[in-house]
Parts: sequence; structure tokens; C-alpha cells
Amino acid sequence: MTSESAAHTPASAANFLPGPVLLLGAPGGGKGTQAQLLMADFGIPQISTGDILRDNIARETELGKAAKGLMDKGQLVPDELVNDMVGSRLSQPDVERGYILDGYPRTLGQAEWLDAYLASEKAEVAPLVAINIRVDEQELLRRITGRRICPVCKTIYNIYSKPPKQEGICDNEGSPLQHRSDDTEEAFAERMKAYNSLTAPVIEHYSKQGRFREVDGGQSMEQVTAAIESSLKQLRGAGE
Ligand code: AP5
Repeated sequence: MTSESAAHTPASAANFLPGPVLLLGAPGGGKGTQAQLLMADFGIPQISTGDILRDNIARETELGKAAKGLMDKGQLVPDELVNDMVGSRLSQPDVERGYILDGYPRTLGQAEWLDAYLASEKAEVAPLVAINIRVDEQELLRRITGRRICPVCKTIYNIYSKPPKQEGICDNEGSPLQHRSDDTEEAFAERMKAYNSLTAPVIEHYSKQGRFREVDGGQSMEQVTAAIESSLKQLRGAGE
């Protein structure tokens, strides 16, 4: 067993359920990667607004048409469109045991909408807890430009830190990997602007509410998962 794998004991082994979890952090910080790992460990769904929007673009829906130009430029999609999308996803039965929100909320307007939506939900649903994954900007750019994604199973690869076994091909599906159209240096600069001006206040918002932890996202993927799971247990009063 390596020291990294020793650091990460799946929390599911202890029958722990984290309830609703919010993953916050800058573009390329590892939210999607960690959401996929937590989903595997806890058996609760990942709700990624970026993935839902990209799926709408691929299906050429009205929402997809409205979002595509903005996303390619690295700008945010209007709150009303994203809130409706999240409301409809949260009304599905698979969220009852908890879920991982990835990439939402990213404006104060979205955070306020979500808080109000959850407050109107049944009282027995556990309150939302938020984890901010912190990574420095130079590393973010390297992660963004090196990212490749399987269009079928959505597995996230990286040519530097998590390459597929065969270059350009998904290990699971055998399909050609894709490079996101907003994973360019230019779009990254815009996404960072939106993050610093609109999303940073969301982090402040949840930090003030108290059910919040920050983890060092500059570590290995496995160490980040271990740090997140340990934070979740603390936030839910389940030891550690
Ligand atoms: P979205 O898809 O949410 O993109 P994002 O927030 O910019 O985040 P990313 O998906 O780029 O990064 P990530 O943090 O998930 O990192 P990942 O795990 O892939 O949004 C895209 C666009 O959609 C937005 O710009 C906006 O237009 C629109 N949108 C979405 N939600 C919206 C909302 N709520 N409101 C309005 N508009 C919205 O990791 C990145 C890379 O690093 C991968 O290659 C991975 O393998 C690698 N990596 C991960 N962890 C590590 C590690 N520990 N060490 C080394 N490499 C690592």
C-alpha cells in the first residue's frame, strides 16, 4: 500500500453519508474529479451544472443554444437559466440520500436562490455543507490545458497528471478523448475573471454560515479526496 492510498480510506466503509455537499473552487481546481471520486465512495449523485449545460449543447436544446456562446467565451450563463436547471434536477428522487453539487452556485444570486429552495424543502433533509478546494493559479492553467474528457462516460483525464493508458483514448470506453472548447488560455483568463468577481463572494457567503471547510487542492487527487472526506466527517459531527 502506498502512503497515498493509506491516506484515503473510503468513508463508505464506515457507513458514513455526507448528505448534500457543495464543492467550491476555481476553474480546473478538481471539483469534477473529486465529485466523481466521492460519488463512487458514497453512492450519491454528482450534479454538475457544467456537465448539464454541455449535455444541452450536444443535444442542441434551446438552453444549450443560449449557453454555448457564453461558455465558449468563459462567461457565466444567466442565473435564472441555471437555477431552473438545478431546481428540476433536485426534484428527482435519487438526491434523497444526498448529492454533490459541482460548479453551482457561482454567484451570490444563485446561492440565495439555493438557500431559499433548500429552506422550503422537508426539515429532515440535512443542511448543506460546503468544501472549498484551493489551488494556485499557475497550476490551474496547467490542469485546464492538460485536461481531456471522455464524451461517453465523462471520466476526466489529464495528459500530465492522469493520462489514459493509450494516448487520446478512454480506458473504459475506447472512445477518442475530447478537449473542452473553453479549455484555452483565453477562455481560462475570462473564467478566472468571472470566478474572482462573482464566485469568490459565494465562498465568503458559505464560510460565514459556518458549515464550511477549505482543503489544499494542490496535493495528489487521492490526498485531496482524503482531506475532503475527513472535513465532511467533521462537519457532520462523525468524528475525526
Ligand atoms: P464548469 O464545467 O463547472 O467548469 P469550471 O467550474 O470552470 O470547472 P472545471 O470543470 O473547469 O474544473 P474542475 O474544478 O471540475 O476540475 P477537474 O476536476 O476537471 O463550467 C463551465 C462553464 O459552464 C462556465 O464557465 C459557465 O459558462 C457555465 N456554467 C457552469 N455552471 C454554471 C453556473 N452555476 N452558473 C453560470 N454558468 C455556469 O480537474 C481539472 C484537470 O486537473 C483535470 O484534467 C484533472 O484530471 C486534473 N486534476 C484534478 N485534480 C488534480 C490533482 N489533485 N492533481 C493533478 N491534477 C488534477
